[in-house]
Amino acid sequence: MKERYTAICEELRRHPVRWMISGVAGFIGSNLLETLLKLEQEVVGIDNFSTGSRRNLAEVEAAVTTSQWRRFCLHEGDIRYKEDCERMMAGVSHVLHQAALGSVPRSLSDPVTTNEVNIGGFLNMLVAARDAKVSSFTYAASSSTYGDNPALPKIEECIGKPLSPYAVTKYVNELYADVFARCYGFRSIGLRYFNVFGQRQDPAGAYAAVIPRWTAALIRDDEVVINGDGQTSRDFCFVDNVVQANILSALAVDDAKNEIYNVAVGDRTTLNDLFEALKEALRDCGVHSGIVPTYAEFRAGDVRHSQASIEKISKSLGYASAVSIGDGIERAMPWYVKHLGAVT
Ligand SMILES: NC(=O)c1ccc[n+]([C@@H]2O[C@H](COP(=O)([O-])OP(=O)(O)OC[C@H]3O[C@@H](n4cnc5c(N)ncnc54)[C@H](O)[C@@H]3O)[C@@H](O)[C@H]2O)c1
Repeated sequence: MKERYTAICEELRRHPVRWMISGVAGFIGSNLLETLLKLEQEVVGIDNFSTGSRRNLAEVEAAVTTSQWRRFCLHEGDIRYKEDCERMMAGVSHVLHQAALGSVPRSLSDPVTTNEVNIGGFLNMLVAARDAKVSSFTYAASSSTYGDNPALPKIEECIGKPLSPYAVTKYVNELYADVFARCYGFRSIGLRYFNVFGQRQDPAGAYAAVIPRWTAALIRDDEVVINGDGQTSRDFCFVDNVVQANILSALAVDDAKNEIYNVAVGDRTTLNDLFEALKEALRDCGVHSGIVPTYAEFRAGDVRHSQASIEKISKSLGYASAVSIGDGIERAMPWYVKHLGAVT
């Protein structure tokens, strides 16, 4: 399976094309950017820096060569304005749409802005990409779409009722994408990410994801709060797997389009086990924490267990979850140890 990804990367290196990444200054967007520039691609990116940062882009610049960095063009703009989406599409062949307001709690406290960015912005991107006749459009969907359906593992066709405004927005993206295929023949691919983690995921702020939040707390000897009894489980997916899925999706054959695919490892880890794994990986980086977690109420809008089936994406796109949760944590921790001194 891995061969397909390797072959595609080699082909891209030989024949570079022009990509567009929305949310390019974010966690996943900047990891996509780094990989594509290292593959000698041309990349146009848009971001309004609402949750992404210039520091993420500076890190990418430091990780690539000067000539690779020159192939990147940044538009500071907002996907809520359709003109901003339109002006970037010239000559673009592959769109990787990542820009959105993530976080279930954020959507519960401000559903209107989440809706404007995640649905209004998505529609602007879709229309601009359709009008520019790009060859592929891949967008970040979410495992939150499985909602209240308790079945495990999660299979793409069996979803439940959304449990948060965020989940509604991500499901509406899928509905719009399908309608664009039916009404305009514009066939895109939605990738339902499951709890992505890795270098450059923001540990700061009230809406930080669990891995960067706990890692920061362990490094700084702060309190670690587990919502619920710690037996809640997730399919934690290292960011390199997500990068692989996006590139495979962009180059997918037509028959594999107008589909939704899970992007995950196909395994699940409880929050209690995650806490121990982070502690251990940090110990290997010289951070010895004696922190014991405290337990709080279950969080509104959270699902109890999550684990993906990755059969569909493996069969149709040739995806292989290359990096396990353990290896991913090992790879991500040195970045946090190095950078957290600078985080406020
Ligand atoms: N990280 C995860 O575990 C996860 C899981 C499921 C889905 N997703 C989806 O993946 C995508 C990327 O997530 P991430 O974790 O990298 O988050 P992130 O917050 O790091 O990145 C999102 C980027 O989008 C930008 N952005 C937000 N609103 C914008 C707007 N109106 N105009 C232009 N840019 C805007 C932000 O500034 C940021 O750079 C999102 O669509 C998210 O919903 C992420």
